[in-house]
Amino acid sequence: MEFLDPKLEAYVENHTMPESAVLDELNRETWLKVLQPRMLSGHLQGRVLSMLSHMIKPRNILEVGTYTGYSALCFAEGLQQGGVIDTIDINEELEPLVQRFLEKSGYSDRIKMHVGNALDIIPTLDKEYDIVFIDADKNNYINYYNAAFEKVNKGGYIIADNVLWSGKVLDEQELKDDPDTRTINEYNKMVLADERVENVLFPIRDGLMIARKK
Ligand SMILES: C[S@@+](CC[C@H](N)C(=O)[O-])C[C@H]1O[C@@H](n2cnc3c(N)ncnc32)[C@H](O)[C@@H]1O
Repeated sequence: MEFLDPKLEAYVENHTMPESAVLDELNRETWLKVLQPRMLSGHLQGRVLSMLSHMIKPRNILEVGTYTGYSALCFAEGLQQGGVIDTIDINEELEPLVQRFLEKSGYSDRIKMHVGNALDIIPTLDKEYDIVFIDADKNNYINYYNAAFEKVNKGGYIIADNVLWSGKVLDEQELKDDPDTRTINEYNKMVLADERVENVLFPIRDGLMIARKK
């Protein structure tokens, strides 16, 4: 589902600063060589993540779902001096490509990729985070939120991608038949009801739910 009229979307992209040369190359290489390239955040959402990171000035970031590393590289642009990103992906085949682009970008000393199931790895990370970005398998969104919550600093943010799920969250049949749609809908309701956070659902690309820990 297109949320914005394509012409308006093109206008928005054309009036947003371009991605860096490294991100442009990663974007192209992902579309050429990697399965399911639509999973990559892309130009507009990438600039939004970079801008959020500059605004928050995070010390540490936790990302669940590295894929080819595009969103991690966008977040890295706003990291504090000495800050790090722990990014987790279950797909070990992605690691060589991610490492190559981390080297190219100059962020390899600040982004650490962990390969494995995020639900196993999150409890082993002994850090506090200013941003947690949830962007992996949709049926575990609530589990990732719960696993990461205590590691988020007061005033820190939990950002979840794809919370509109191409508009399926409005479709009664999808809500009945599709577990991913159901979990995303439950995730949105859970965050809204969680008195420990303030939240806003941004209708950017496929929807970004931003929760701020009080
Ligand atoms: C939507 S992609 C991430 C896109 C990336 N954040 C970006 O914006 O460019 C989702 C990723 O989550 C990973 N993933 C799925 N299940 C996972 C799990 N249980 N633990 C860690 N990563 C997982 C997939 O291998 C995939 O690479």
